[in-house]
Amino acid sequence: MQIKQIEMSNFRKYESARIQFHPQFTLLIGNNASGKTTILDALAMLLSTYFQGAQVVTGGTTLRKSDARYIVIEKEGQVFLEPAHGVWLKASAVFPDEDHAVEWIRELGDRGGKAKDFIAKGAEVRERVAKGLSPELPLLCYYGAGRLWELHRDVKTERPGSQLDAYRYCLDPKSDQYVLLKWFKRLTLSELQRKTEIPALQVVRDAILTCIPGAKNFIFDINEGALVIELEREGIVRFGDLSDGFRNMVAMVADIAHRCAKLNPQFGGAAAKRTKGTILIDEIDLHLHPKWQRRVIPDLKSAFPNIQFIATTHSPFIIQSAHAVEVIDLDNFMTSLPGEENIAKQESTAEHVSSAQQNNMAAVVPETMYADKSIEDIVEAVMDVPVPQRSHRYQEMFDAAKEYFLLLEEGKQASNEEKNTIKRRLDALSAPFSENVAYHAFLEMERVYAGLKRSPEGDDE
Ligand SMILES: Nc1ncnc2c1ncn2[C@@H]1O[C@H](COP(=O)(O)OP(=O)(O)OP(=O)(O)O)[C@@H](O)[C@H]1O
Ligand SMILES: [Mg+2]
Repeated sequence: MQIKQIEMSNFRKYESARIQFHPQFTLLIGNNASGKTTILDALAMLLSTYFQGAQVVTGGTTLRKSDARYIVIEKEGQVFLEPAHGVWLKASAVFPDEDHAVEWIRELGDRGGKAKDFIAKGAEVRERVAKGLSPELPLLCYYGAGRLWELHRDVKTERPGSQLDAYRYCLDPKSDQYVLLKWFKRLTLSELQRKTEIPALQVVRDAILTCIPGAKNFIFDINEGALVIELEREGIVRFGDLSDGFRNMVAMVADIAHRCAKLNPQFGGAAAKRTKGTILIDEIDLHLHPKWQRRVIPDLKSAFPNIQFIATTHSPFIIQSAHAVEVIDLDNFMTSLPGEENIAKQESTAEHVSSAQQNNMAAVVPETMYADKSIEDIVEAVMDVPVPQRSHRYQEMFDAAKEYFLLLEEGKQASNEEKNTIKRRLDALSAPFSENVAYHAFLEMERVYAGLKRSPEGDDE
């Protein structure tokens, strides 16, 4: 299954917006509070409809009252938050071997009445699993930004369960890594007992070797009673002892791979490569060094080539690596006029602009803006940070010094009254330089030459 697009109406911060997704990888970028996580939450809610009527706890949610976009209204000093009406989410997705997309809508308080076709898709494959058949099951997963610390711990059993248990907590942004540990342990013991290789374990191992730099092996160590990974530089490390960056990626990659192996055992050792589905990852750069950020997208694409990823990021290194990927800049939604939908306003190619305007949807950032560009170019052109190579403090000092010297020039022609205003501004502008005694003295001398000497008391000399 691949999500083609979603529409949101009065959902949290979005009054009305439409976003189209790349079949393989979409990166959502934008400032803090630009609405990146909101889009992943909306997608997870829409996807949870697939499991309606299923006996599996996916952790997915449906629209709640608090998801209604509130409008802040002030009346006579009192502030009111009025929830908007017409709260709904709509998505369309394509299924393998079908040429038309399935469309479904979720409204606040509904029971899935406008999602019957999509619900039927889920019910149909589950029925076939119950009959002992092996239909191709799509993987649907959501990894939230708190995935390293927020864990489900309610794993009571090590016994085999239903094949559909592979969906356990799949749409909950929290991590469910204890299940992985128990599953890996059980299959490792079974492999030893049966003395034949179990392909599912190799599926996880292959994915780890593809996505974790320097990884040489990944096993359940029976002596240690723990999952261990062998790394080129660090040697053998227990999963629990890994650094945050490694633990985050190992947990996510192993989780995806083991779910693929559980969902589609008929694919054997190729389960990770052949399983289709959609995975949502909030803050894909979480805890990763820039060197690793540069390879995380190509690695995930290579380990799971049939999965559609939709991820958010703040990292220019991730954007720089985004080859054959759609980058959507959420800061470029225009505030719409009443009755109009949001339209992305970025400077884009004519083709992108006309398609965005025709369809009222967010246009992608053209690849020419970030492919083969330096980090500085990306930060400046795509992420809208002027002069990114300078720190904020350096830029502030630079701007202050520039204004200071311009004022000195202006002051030469100014009236006495204007001079007093200029002097007050010069006092403020020179303050940040007071730590540098020599430069501060130089600034003071320049004032004297310009006839704008600091007054010992107040404004008037
Ligand atoms: N019901 C609501 N009505 C209106 N705005 C809302 C509602 N719920 C949340 N918001 C707004 O949505 C914004 C948060 O959006 P979101 O968490 O998606 O941002 P983000 O792009 O993921 O940010 P970050 O990069 O910091 O994670 C906040 O500004 C919040 O005030
Ligand atoms: Mg967020």
